[in-house]
Amino acid sequence: MPNIPLRKGGPNARIAVIPGDGIGKEVTPVAVQVIQAAIAKRHRHIDFVEFEWGADKFLREKITLPEGAVDTLRDEFDAILFGALGDPRVPSNQHAADILLGLRFKLDLYVNARPAELFLDRFSPLSDRICNDIRMMVFRENTEGVYTGGGGFFKKGTADEVAIQEDINTRKGVERILRFAFDYARGGAICGTGTPAGASPSTTATPPHPHKPLRLCMADKSNAMTFAGDLWQRTFKSVRADYPDVDSRHLYIDTLAMELIRDPRQFDVIVTNNLFGDIISDLTSQLAGGLGLAPSGNIHPGQTSLFEPVHGSAPTIAGKGIANPFGSVLASGMMLEFLGWHAEAQLLKQSVKSALHDNITTPDLHGSKQTLEVADWLTNYVAKHSL
Ligand code: NAD
Ligand code: IPM
Ligand code: MN
Repeated sequence: MPNIPLRKGGPNARIAVIPGDGIGKEVTPVAVQVIQAAIAKRHRHIDFVEFEWGADKFLREKITLPEGAVDTLRDEFDAILFGALGDPRVPSNQHAADILLGLRFKLDLYVNARPAELFLDRFSPLSDRICNDIRMMVFRENTEGVYTGGGGFFKKGTADEVAIQEDINTRKGVERILRFAFDYARGGAICGTGTPAGASPSTTATPPHPHKPLRLCMADKSNAMTFAGDLWQRTFKSVRADYPDVDSRHLYIDTLAMELIRDPRQFDVIVTNNLFGDIISDLTSQLAGGLGLAPSGNIHPGQTSLFEPVHGSAPTIAGKGIANPFGSVLASGMMLEFLGWHAEAQLLKQSVKSALHDNITTPDLHGSKQTLEVADWLTNYVAKHSL
């Protein structure tokens, strides 16, 4: 992965596993099982250490992110495999904010990389689109914006109530996500999910300019959110001047949403703020087959990073054994790529593609399989094809 320096490299890794709530508890063990199968024959070793942080612990002990947790994760683990958080018994979502957003902020995981790649034509909701049309990476700024929690109430509960939600944007924060996206556009491979349009199909160390750079689109709402937008615009102008070889443009976020539906072939790399990235990545996920298939990496290059499916805890299907594990398995592929284990990462991705091809899918993808049936199929595939 040319633009994302390895955490440590080497044959061993320590992975913290946080399944969380709902279907997070169903899909994460599948991912662990498939990773184990992928590394078994390759003299790799992973220590998986599970942490039962989530709604149950919060309701039982009032503990969300335990004291010292961030230091432990930062100092003793290479990466975190995360499921999902969210439980109807915790309507405030307090534990999710403390744990998930807490880790994103406190580990300073400023890149939220959310690739969307259509594996089979029929999975796109756009009837005239084929696989090659939808292959893009959304980079969501992951440590700022409205997610910082600034704000408050005035005269709460009265007819004159005021609620303020602050949107924090720093020059440093905006610049580093833009530079990351430009470097990526220049360098190439979509981490853990294959090779972008026009790129050479290499998964090993890539020379600096092996192919035409990807096209980059920065999206904001600078026509209405004038202060934050102005900072994004000025930073974009100064950063893009350092990347004259990258075809870059700006779209307002509402126009981007429209253009993604009208013609998704226009986009390789999208970079935007935290909130817009959250929303637009659900849209790009659906273009490529839905949330059940969408992976993500919360990354700080060279430091302990967190990998998770884009989807949430899906309370309405939790416990039914029908959760789609592909998003978690593909996120695990991104994690192995981050560890520098390219062959294993490719194998995980290939197992998902083959399962889709053979219709080994859960009901969200119109299949008839249970989560555990898909898990067994993926595990067998990976064991059989592992060298
Ligand atoms: P969701 O992603 O949980 O579900 C949205 C829809 O997609 C539902 O119909 C669900 O059944 C379906 N779906 C999602 N993942 C699926 C899978 N793997 N297999 C099959 N179907 C799947 O989003 P939501 O319903 O808006 O949120 C539910 C809870 O999850 C909320 O508490 C929310 O805050 C939380 N959430 C957490 C994360 C996270 O932990 N990263 C992400 C999104 C939502
Ligand atoms: C996501 C989720 C989270 C977010 C929620 C659960 C706070 O929607 O990871 O996309 O908004 O970042
Ligand atoms: Mn989201």
